[in-house]
Amino acid sequence: MTWRNDQVSQPETEKILEVARECLARPGDFVEMGCYKGDTALLVAGILPGDKRLYIYDSFEGLPEKSVEDVSALGEDFKGGELSVTKREVKERFLRAGLRVPVIKKAWFSDLTDEDMPDRIAFSFLDGDFYESIRDSLKLVGPRMVGGSVMIIHDYNNLALPGVKRAVDEWACGKTVEKSAFQSMMIVRF
Ligand SMILES: C[S@@+](CC[C@H](N)C(=O)[O-])C[C@H]1O[C@@H](n2cnc3c(N)ncnc32)[C@H](O)[C@@H]1O
Repeated sequence: MTWRNDQVSQPETEKILEVARECLARPGDFVEMGCYKGDTALLVAGILPGDKRLYIYDSFEGLPEKSVEDVSALGEDFKGGELSVTKREVKERFLRAGLRVPVIKKAWFSDLTDEDMPDRIAFSFLDGDFYESIRDSLKLVGPRMVGGSVMIIHDYNNLALPGVKRAVDEWACGKTVEKSAFQSMMIVRF
């Protein structure tokens, strides 16, 4: 595995791949909400067999504006408009790597509908950084996670991005899912 990512640590990336491999035995496709340059998506695509599809989503206009839930005493970690890359650049990285190009959707998560999502999801990685981005991702992805599938949410334990934890805790309240932590990530087993 070649790790090259300024957003996700190497141990986190290794954990994502370990969990993604486990999920190959589950029915359904693989999803990343917030792919940025595609660093994690390229590695996940590299382990997928032909009968599994990777769906990746991003505004390709960078982060949206923060909401009040994202305000941190630690100050600003990321601002609206940061982390912008084009869809074409991401697609070309897959082609250059000789990998099957994922389904790449350019949209704000709040504009996505059920038709944009695969019916069944075996593995998902949520990495939208802000409260509304994670809340909207959970709304789209949560109902499609199959039994035995796993969702990983990045930055759950990142005090500079408090909206992530808030959105996940609100969503998880009253749900029977198994949660565990790994570095900044929350791993949710369905
Ligand atoms: C930290 S980066 C993702 C890094 C990537 N997952 C990786 O592993 O390299 C966050 C990405 O989420 C996207 N994003 C955040 N909120 C979004 C929203 N509400 N709608 C669409 N894209 C969003 C940003 O454009 C950015 O590219």
